[in-house]
Amino acid sequence: MKAVICTRYGPPDVLQFKEVEKPVPKENEILVEIRASAVTASDIFIRSSNIPLRMRIPMRIMLGIFKPRRKIIGLVFAGIVKSAGPETKRFAPGDEVYGMTGFHLGAYAEYTCIKEKDSTTGCVAIKPQNISFEEATSAVYGGSLAFQFMEKGRIRAKQNILIYGASGTSGVIAVQYGKYLGANVTAVCSGKHLDYVKSLGADNVIDYTNADTPDKDIKFDFILDSVGKAKKSRLKENCKKALSDTGIYASIDDGNLVLSSKRLDFLTGLIENGAIKPVVDKIYPLEEIVEAHRYVEKGHKMGGVAITIGR
Ligand SMILES: NC(=O)c1ccc[n+]([C@@H]2O[C@H](COP(=O)([O-])OP(=O)(O)OC[C@H]3O[C@@H](n4cnc5c(N)ncnc54)[C@H](OP(=O)(O)O)[C@@H]3O)[C@@H](O)[C@H]2O)c1
Repeated sequence: MKAVICTRYGPPDVLQFKEVEKPVPKENEILVEIRASAVTASDIFIRSSNIPLRMRIPMRIMLGIFKPRRKIIGLVFAGIVKSAGPETKRFAPGDEVYGMTGFHLGAYAEYTCIKEKDSTTGCVAIKPQNISFEEATSAVYGGSLAFQFMEKGRIRAKQNILIYGASGTSGVIAVQYGKYLGANVTAVCSGKHLDYVKSLGADNVIDYTNADTPDKDIKFDFILDSVGKAKKSRLKENCKKALSDTGIYASIDDGNLVLSSKRLDFLTGLIENGAIKPVVDKIYPLEEIVEAHRYVEKGHKMGGVAITIGR
């Protein structure tokens, strides 16, 4: 099968397009023909190993000390079940699925095997019927991150919430999920993305490139930093000061991403009933993965960047 391999940590051109052996599913696994993957913040971390110092040693232990332990990288997939091992129950050949591969990685390829039960090596669920495979890859990553960290806020209708980094893969879903919960949503992103973020439902928008403080009249019940701790600004610090006395602040970097098919089932429902619409900035074929990584590394994509495979 065709795949992209990464035999050392480094810049985007360490990625090589290769012919490799097709995997064979174990009894508790399904074989998925991957139709789309994505270039996520996690893929950039893994390929470059440019990981914040506090996480570098544990991440290297898990991913490979001197080079990636798993040659085929790629965290996110959407595709079609080709076969299901005898111990599996949830899926049948022909099902369209989406998910993440966790520490197993392997999504930059035409096929991958994944346990049907959630584990640190993946989670998988039925893909929403009303979106493309490419859109599904943006949804699965952004939705898993946004839901996990917004659950901390116990958000209720009419509360004021702020999404810092509203144009990223998790940010675009966080804005829409906030509206679904009935909150009044303030969204922070750069000027060129303000209109789009408004079109997703944000009630107020702030351009972090030319504002240092949020509206002085608003106190926030919940703030999600959806770009992570490495991206700092005076505005972010001032937003924290605008939390209400009982307000909750969550950074997307506080705790590991949990791979949960239950969250994906919930996401599927919200996408199918139109409450959430995944956002894809650009789509590249697998052969152009180096270009895709270069684009994402610039740090200003809008929503997700997808990779089409096998078409
Ligand atoms: N906890 C975990 O296990 C885990 C797992 C994966 C990822 N993460 C964290 O999640 C973060 C976000 O991932 P993601 O894929 O959702 O984001 P992303 O799509 O990579 O975010 C890109 C967005 O960040 C915005 N941005 C860039 N610099 C900014 C700044 N200084 N201030 C505000 N916004 C800025 C850009 O908006 P503009 O173009 O509008 O400027 C761009 O749209 C990662 O960076 C990582 O820290 C955590």
